[in-house]
Amino acid sequence: MTQPTTPQANDQSPTTPRIHWASSGGFILAAAGSAVGLGNIWKFPYITGVYGGGAFVLVYLGCVLAVGLPLMIAELMIGRRAQENPVGAFQKLHYRGSPWQITGWLGVASGFVILSFYSVIAGWALAYVFESLSGFSGAAADIQAQFDALAGSAPRSAFWHTVFMALTIGIVMGGVRDGIERWVKILMPGLLAILGGLMIYGLFFTDGGSQAIGFLFQPDFSKLSAEGILSALGHAFFTLSLGMGAMITYGSYMNRDSHIVRDAITISLLDTVIALLAGIVIFSLVFSYGLEPNVGPGLIFHTLPVLFAETGPWVSVPFFVLLTFAALSSTISLLEVVVSYFVDERGWNRKAATLVMGAVIYVLGLLSAIAVLKVPFRGSEQGFLDILDYISTNYMLPIGGLLTCLFSAWIIKDQVRREEFGSAGLAYKAFVWTLRLITPVAVLIIILHGLNLLPFVE
Ligand code: TRP
Repeated sequence: MTQPTTPQANDQSPTTPRIHWASSGGFILAAAGSAVGLGNIWKFPYITGVYGGGAFVLVYLGCVLAVGLPLMIAELMIGRRAQENPVGAFQKLHYRGSPWQITGWLGVASGFVILSFYSVIAGWALAYVFESLSGFSGAAADIQAQFDALAGSAPRSAFWHTVFMALTIGIVMGGVRDGIERWVKILMPGLLAILGGLMIYGLFFTDGGSQAIGFLFQPDFSKLSAEGILSALGHAFFTLSLGMGAMITYGSYMNRDSHIVRDAITISLLDTVIALLAGIVIFSLVFSYGLEPNVGPGLIFHTLPVLFAETGPWVSVPFFVLLTFAALSSTISLLEVVVSYFVDERGWNRKAATLVMGAVIYVLGLLSAIAVLKVPFRGSEQGFLDILDYISTNYMLPIGGLLTCLFSAWIIKDQVRREEFGSAGLAYKAFVWTLRLITPVAVLIIILHGLNLLPFVE
């Protein structure tokens, strides 16, 4: 599946043919790397804990199938067909100047916003690789205060954010093949190996393994709330990197002989399996020390280090390396969306686009790194990290996803869609009608919920 005829230099010039992934395996690792991130290892376990386990997991799997997978196929289709960044892609598949390009604009803007705060959290993960090298000790309250000291300190958060952005910029500057593809081939196998090792530890070397499996896979529907269902829906979206053109961008580097549907299934499956494995690891630890699973966002940085004081650095160092790898393969996809726009549409060269836009995002991220910087937002004083997270997760991504869904369901020519799908049989019909009816309604519900316009949930 390699195309040796596409030289690396084409990466930078908009007039020569577009660079493609060197192999379909490289593409799958890159796209799965984008999908697998803080969402899988930090957020999925904690929301599963908050919303009661098994039943929530089941709903989440349903959302991945009904909303995530169709939209992933749709984004890859748009990208591969157009062979352009999101702004150019919507125009190319409609007409030059088409208002649908707004969807692409929104995606590029989301890239700026999400990467800025995501890098701050990723920086904490990196900092914790080093903190756990020396081990955690002392009373639980002291170990927890250790994290608050990091997150609350502007110089320390800013320092690790700087390191993380530098890593991201360094990789993206290398280009699609020599930067992104080369690095995900190291990061993703590393991530899988660490996760496998930790899972064996959790299942066989702690007393919490079977309880963790029961918690994740035995649904108790009495624990399911409307709020839980909506979170599952929103999370299916975020965890698969949908709604901002990341998959459009990665799809634009696909060869014509790649299989969009098969690849989208592989990527979604990898993302889901990795989230579940992370859940097994974390809940095995939590249950083996008799703790409650429902502590919320502090699960990884507050609760786990208390347990790591018992297990020692053998468990905690790999864990935070895992978190760092997962985050890094996601931040490069966020930056690539922005870079591809400036390269394709503005004719910048890749190095300049990566450096300049990386620097702009870095500066924006400093606002999130300064925890004491608070502004009034929705009736209270809040930090930038929470505000930007809130705006992007609740507004930007769902709106981008809804527009992408409507575009690919109703605007693209049926023939184009069929060609990209690769068949016209029953599977295709099921895909189109899911994309026309089920996916947009589900996404609309996420948006209304974000706006507090759903009367039946708090
Ligand atoms: N999917 C990533 C995660 O689970 C986050 C992410 C990376 C993302 N790129 C994205 C989310 C693009 C939305 C859009 O952590």
